[in-house]
Amino acid sequence: MNLLQISHMKKSFDALSVIQDISLTVNEGEVLAIIGPSGSGKSTLLRCATLLERMDGGSLSYLGEKAAWEEDGRCVYADKNRLKEIQRYFGLVFQNFNLFPHYSVIKNITDAPIRVAKAPHAEAYEQAEQLLAQLGLLDKADAYPYQLSGGQQQRVSIARALALKPRLLFFDEPTSALDPELTGEVLKVIRQLARSHMTMIIVTHEMQFAREVSDRIIFMEQGKIQAEGTPEEIFRSDWERIKEFIGKYN
Ligand SMILES: Nc1ncnc2c1ncn2[C@@H]1O[C@H](COP(=O)(O)OP(=O)(O)OP(=O)(O)O)[C@@H](O)[C@H]1O
Ligand SMILES: [Mg+2]
Repeated sequence: MNLLQISHMKKSFDALSVIQDISLTVNEGEVLAIIGPSGSGKSTLLRCATLLERMDGGSLSYLGEKAAWEEDGRCVYADKNRLKEIQRYFGLVFQNFNLFPHYSVIKNITDAPIRVAKAPHAEAYEQAEQLLAQLGLLDKADAYPYQLSGGQQQRVSIARALALKPRLLFFDEPTSALDPELTGEVLKVIRQLARSHMTMIIVTHEMQFAREVSDRIIFMEQGKIQAEGTPEEIFRSDWERIKEFIGKYN
């Protein structure tokens, strides 16, 4: 089943064209890695796909439901309520964790299920404990974010995203704020999710990780998809530009 479809996405900031005609599809159970140099538009693509930023052209749909489309040469969005429903199909994990600093770990995780999804209190807490156990954080349930390492904070933010039971999960450089040791524990969690067939779109500079965890890799540069293929196709590419880019990270 097709979970995400982006067709001809375009996005500019003033005169700067950041996304130039990007189309991509993500099927259920698939792990897509997006790589590319700094400034190539990876975060902008994710922000447009997750409705944090409005695109200027193209269309966007989740599970066949249209969030945005073109009409008379301009991009129109579905109404607010519709977008709210569509938003529940996906979760988002950022580079800087973005936890609520004044909430305990368990409250960070249960807040949206209770407030947004109207889950019963006991059910939300039970689910949060299961997630914490799964991510090796059960002993941190009552801690506050400042009491956790970066890797632990990132795992809590993954648990928080999973608590809303998304059909697909976006990650924007989930480990780039972490040192190598803490990076490992976050990558392990993402690997575990991949094995459980969670659909994921991961922007990363961790080349070996992208190679190992993804089913497909997109190489972006200057707001365009310059190459797309299986990890083997991308890593064995004889295109000089890709070889040079990947070489920098090895
Ligand atoms: N809100 C904004 N206003 C103006 N320009 C922006 C805005 N957001 C991004 N840009 C510009 O768009 C371009 C692409 O930025 P983007 O953050 O998408 O790149 P990226 O591929 O995620 O880079 P990195 O690997 O460094 O995270 C950059 O030139 C950036 O300066
Ligand atoms: Mg970025």
